Amino acid sequence: MRDFLGDYCICCHNPEGNKRRLDLEIIYEESITGHPEIWEKMVTRIESRDMPPVKARKRPLEKDYAVALETLPFHAHGL
Ligand code: HEC
Repeated sequence: MRDFLGDYCICCHNPEGNKRRLDLEIIYEESITGHPEIWEKMVTRIESRDMPPVKARKRPLEKDYAVALETLPFHAHGL
């Protein structure tokens, strides 16, 4: 899961980035289970294929989305 985020998300979602953007590095550095609200948001955006944005240089393959969505809910609920 961290690979998925590292490959496709962190390039935009990091502390140096635009302040409007969610800081996903927080779930790298702090407890991965400590931020269920962030995981929930991520599930929503990934389910709707809304993130990464269409204009992003690198977008996940459909199979990467599938794997991410299988594992994300477990993180969200601290399992
Ligand atoms: C090309 C840059 C870029 C990439 C790559 C990207 N995002 Fe985003 N993301 C944005 C921008 C800009 C916004 C704010 C605009 C919006 O909400 O659509 C955003 C918003 C979000 C939000 C909503 C934040 C909130 O507070 O409601 C979530 C969740 C999110 N991104 C998750 C992800 C995930 C997960 C990935 C990787 C699969 C990802 N993003 C990859 C640019 C990016």
